[in-house]
Amino acid sequence: MKAHILNTENNRWDFMTRAGACSHGGIYSVDYKRVKLDFSSNVNPLGAPRRAVKSIENQASRLAPVYPDPECRDLKKSLSRYLDVDAKQITVGNGAAEIIYWFAQVFTKSSAIIPVPTFCEYELAVEKVGAKITFVPLAGDFTLDADNIIKSAKGADTIFMCNPNNPTGLLATDAIRKVIEEVDPSTKILLDECFIELVDKPKANTLMHMVHDHKNLVVLRSLTKSFGMAGLRLGYSVSNPFLAEAMQERKTPWNVNGLAQVAGIAALSDRNHVAKARALVKRERRFLYNRIQKAGYLPLRSDANYFLVQLPKSDSHEFRDRLLKETGVLVRDCSTFTEMGTKHIRVAIKTHKENLKLARALERVAKVEPHG
Ligand SMILES: Cc1ncc(COP(=O)(O)O)c(C=O)c1O
Repeated sequence: MKAHILNTENNRWDFMTRAGACSHGGIYSVDYKRVKLDFSSNVNPLGAPRRAVKSIENQASRLAPVYPDPECRDLKKSLSRYLDVDAKQITVGNGAAEIIYWFAQVFTKSSAIIPVPTFCEYELAVEKVGAKITFVPLAGDFTLDADNIIKSAKGADTIFMCNPNNPTGLLATDAIRKVIEEVDPSTKILLDECFIELVDKPKANTLMHMVHDHKNLVVLRSLTKSFGMAGLRLGYSVSNPFLAEAMQERKTPWNVNGLAQVAGIAALSDRNHVAKARALVKRERRFLYNRIQKAGYLPLRSDANYFLVQLPKSDSHEFRDRLLKETGVLVRDCSTFTEMGTKHIRVAIKTHKENLKLARALERVAKVEPHG
């Protein structure tokens, strides 16, 4: 793979070869029968709204035999009301992941900019197109350097940014706003806001409104994350209608199944669900953070419904396997994120009862964890 990475010591671009180990968490990333509690997937801790599940139960026999609406018209109407944007600005995908691939295919002709570490599907999507990737490393404290991104984006086709970022959990709203305002408008920007509804102040941090003045901006969201519906595969983006149309040309017919469409409509009608999850995340983040710190690990500050934990000594891959084997608790090994190294795991924030079990599992393993 052709990739360049900024060497922050001399501010020069180095050629980089990467292990190419992008992979995901979730129970199928390991032997799923061993998983009693999954903290590797960072979705809404309350799961899917009751009314979304009910809508599937009630409509499965009617919807299973018929083709779904290929244009997702009713779902787009619900999204349009939920977001207060025109339905023509909305693109619906089989998960947000599908839209990342359309964006890369349609807009990345020869080069893309990706700040790292971040969600690795961006680089996989660009690799598929055969374009050059320029990785711009986050600073040592995982903050986003807007100036470096703007400088390196000269002549680039696309930029991928994530707010809050995965796996760091950090918001970079001001830096991202600066990039959107200053980058040449011929460069298309994918701003992934899949976790933004679960941060403490989503309204103050979303940059979705910027699509009105910035015709090069696509804002990505996911019902997987915000409404806990990972298995149903439902994501969407908001952009200028021309960009929406261009991406939808890549769509295979009936890409979103009928049950996901009705469940999505039902979920969007339950606004309390996300608000309740947000309050829970805020409370539990503090609890979990303190317990993990007391157990001898180094949890890192986060704005999201998940956070990084630096391990005292051991390799994150080995640690994940040991924790799973000894306790049935699965955490995310972060060594598969480009530029992340081997010292971090990521944990999701779940309900209090579940978080207690994670804390106890980490405490148990800490007793035999070598300290550096
Ligand atoms: C930052 C980010 N964006 C997008 C996705 C994909 O979301 P979806 O399940 O809607 O495809 C993920 C999944 O982990 C993610 O972490």
